[in-house]
Amino acid sequence: MKIGIIGTGYVGSTTAFALMLQGIVSEMVLIDVNRDKAEGEALDLIHSMSFVNPIEIYAGDYRDLKDASVVIISAGPSISKGETRLDLASKNYKVFRKIVPKIVENNENCILLVVTNPVDVLSYVTLKLSGFPENRVIGSGTVLDSSRFRAALSKKLNVDARNIHAYIIGEHGDSQVAAWSLTNIMGIKFDEFCATYIKNFDPAIKQEIEREVKYSAYKVIEKKGATSFAVALAIAKIVKSILRDENSILTVSTYVRSLYEIEDVFLSLPCVVNRNGVDKVLLPPLLPAEKGALRNSAEVIKSYIDQLMS
Ligand code: LAC
Repeated sequence: MKIGIIGTGYVGSTTAFALMLQGIVSEMVLIDVNRDKAEGEALDLIHSMSFVNPIEIYAGDYRDLKDASVVIISAGPSISKGETRLDLASKNYKVFRKIVPKIVENNENCILLVVTNPVDVLSYVTLKLSGFPENRVIGSGTVLDSSRFRAALSKKLNVDARNIHAYIIGEHGDSQVAAWSLTNIMGIKFDEFCATYIKNFDPAIKQEIEREVKYSAYKVIEKKGATSFAVALAIAKIVKSILRDENSILTVSTYVRSLYEIEDVFLSLPCVVNRNGVDKVLLPPLLPAEKGALRNSAEVIKSYIDQLMS
């Protein structure tokens, strides 16, 4: 299985490392406008070959994307301190206008996995620039946020994060929506679980968890300058579900033609992800307030799409 990664900065290089450890990719081409960077990352990864499954890793160019099953786009500047993801829209739109046509020129059958922020806006841009079918353009979306949500809940509830069903939907950004009504542990609704098993549970903890999850990236960026490990593993999870046809339900950013009075936008909803890309978009039974917040998130994303593409 061959994949391509365009952009070997913090996220792209850490994703390459995560995919190599996962051992399901047999060939990986790294592309970067800074060729030395791509070559350096490839070399560094090659040096660990005796510890992992055999894999061919090399720095290449767009011609090498031929036959890749998935092409990950993590190129372009990431947020710095004090910036929101949406602040990057115009800068990274220019980057994508150069990158996407060069990918399509060399590979019309791959699944495009957009990571660069603002990921929802740029996933929409990629759909339009590539002309690919909707199921084959995916944004990493809130897969990472849903993991942050589960990690925060795991700490509060003292339950393995893998046993907590919890979803962040909407924008991978400040207007994201914590779908509390879907949150459950072994089918036990969050509020009921806390009332039964958590001593002195204070419902105000929900707002605290929501804020912690929503602003996680800013906290990491403040301390280490960029995020990399969690987003890389989120991407690796999406790639694994595609390459191994796993049908995992992941809150990737997907094209929404018309849903909950939301039209013509990319945002994150629980999707079944397999070798076709987004195979199904699931319609969770949201509360009216959650639907309203999702519509708000869609409007925020659409406003940036309209600004860029008008
Ligand atoms: C984050 C970046 C990837 O949330 O948007 O870490």
